[in-house]
Amino acid sequence: MYVCLCKAVTQQQIEDAVEDGYSYAQIRQKYGVATDCGCCGQMAKQMIREKTATLPPCEFSEAC
Ligand code: FES
Repeated sequence: MYVCLCKAVTQQQIEDAVEDGYSYAQIRQKYGVATDCGCCGQMAKQMIREKTATLPPCEFSEAC
């Protein structure tokens, strides 16, 4: 599913980036999410929150 139509960014791309440790700001910079019309920003943030909640805790959580 496309999350950002302006930049043709998919849910899978965002979820993969979250799994690789990317933050919203980093995903925005990497893919251009929410850098054009901005309509996708809230959906992308929610998607990142939900995906992050499914990930195991970071073993370096004190340093993260
Ligand atoms: S839909 Fe993402 S910037 Fe327009």
